[in-house]
Amino acid sequence: MFSAQKPMYGSGTGINMGAGGPPANNPGSMPMPGVPSSMGPGMNQQIPGGGPMLMNNTPNNNNNNNNNNNNNNNNIGNNNNNGNNNNNNNNNSSSNDGNAARGNMNMANSRGAIHALDDPNVYHWICQLTYGPQKEQALLELGRKREQFDDLAVVLWSSFGVMTSLLNEIISVYPMLQPQMLSNNLSNRVCNALVLLQCVASHPETKHLFLQAHIPLFLFPFLNTTSRQRTFEYLRLTSLGVIGALVKNDSQDVITFLLRTDIVPLCLRIMESSSELSKTVAIFILQKILLDDVGLQYICATLERFYAVTNVLKDMVEHLTVSTPPGRLLKHIIRCYLRLSDDLEARRLLKVVLPAKLRDNTFTEVLRDDVGSKRCLAQLLLTLNEETS
Ligand code: TRP
Repeated sequence: MFSAQKPMYGSGTGINMGAGGPPANNPGSMPMPGVPSSMGPGMNQQIPGGGPMLMNNTPNNNNNNNNNNNNNNNNIGNNNNNGNNNNNNNNNSSSNDGNAARGNMNMANSRGAIHALDDPNVYHWICQLTYGPQKEQALLELGRKREQFDDLAVVLWSSFGVMTSLLNEIISVYPMLQPQMLSNNLSNRVCNALVLLQCVASHPETKHLFLQAHIPLFLFPFLNTTSRQRTFEYLRLTSLGVIGALVKNDSQDVITFLLRTDIVPLCLRIMESSSELSKTVAIFILQKILLDDVGLQYICATLERFYAVTNVLKDMVEHLTVSTPPGRLLKHIIRCYLRLSDDLEARRLLKVVLPAKLRDNTFTEVLRDDVGSKRCLAQLLLTLNEETS
């Protein structure tokens, strides 16, 4: 039974999630919006040029021009600092290499040969980030380089003062988290700091240190905002991206940590009322929590939690038919329902609360090319139709 007092553990049989199960079980099949590796042009469309670094993955010509300009500035800066032409030439060539590597990112990464500190610009910007005066540009430049090196996260984490500096960027904006007080520029600046945190949160060597230091807690004031202004949307989306990066490769300690926070109600609220992109990242996080056995038990531990989740999912389904196309949201919604149905008590209740639109053929056309989701939906309906106690 669901109860407010006594958590109901142990009925998450995982039957849907066993080997050979539907793709819901396969982390690789779930694109993670908000983290760099799967950010496509859609992100660019949503966030115009002045936006945070989130869209940096798909450089367009404008971005490239900016990069070049900034690299030039950087070299001029170095030249002035060092008063040394040779040095300047070195920097020029490495920055050109950097551009080449950017263009050829996948090759560079697959060789794994490019280390962040081999690029003198990285060292320069790390120093700037720590000591100033060009902190803002340092955030931008390092964010741009995050996909170029395998080990930028390690460098960020282990360089003296860098994490402190990033946290300082974040904390200093807390007093501005009120409508009309948060400027575009400040929001972008913090988003750039968050992008660097996301880099640290994604890397296998730094992820657990990041978690042990409880750094995700610093994001909660951003996730807790409700303003629909663009500046706030960016902050929420980029903060969700950090949490998304943490949950992306299933690890129990991440989920255990998150369950001790109020991440689920925050995600639910974002799923209700934020932008499409934020909703997608929030439901991705919820789905990852549900896929974990402890996470499923947590959600199904009380009726309040179960209904909080299913009410939001149901609302999302209702809205999907209005906004076209439903895109990735529907996939996640189906997988969340399917996973909930692994819990026997939840399955019993789902028979009642599953939206009719998932039972009739409303989404048949939409899912035509998505075999995985179609199969998940079919399995969900089959499971719910089974005669169970
Ligand atoms: N502290 C609340 C609880 O444990 C957190 C919460 C609120 C929550 N709404 C939720 C958790 C919805 C899961 C789902 O219930």
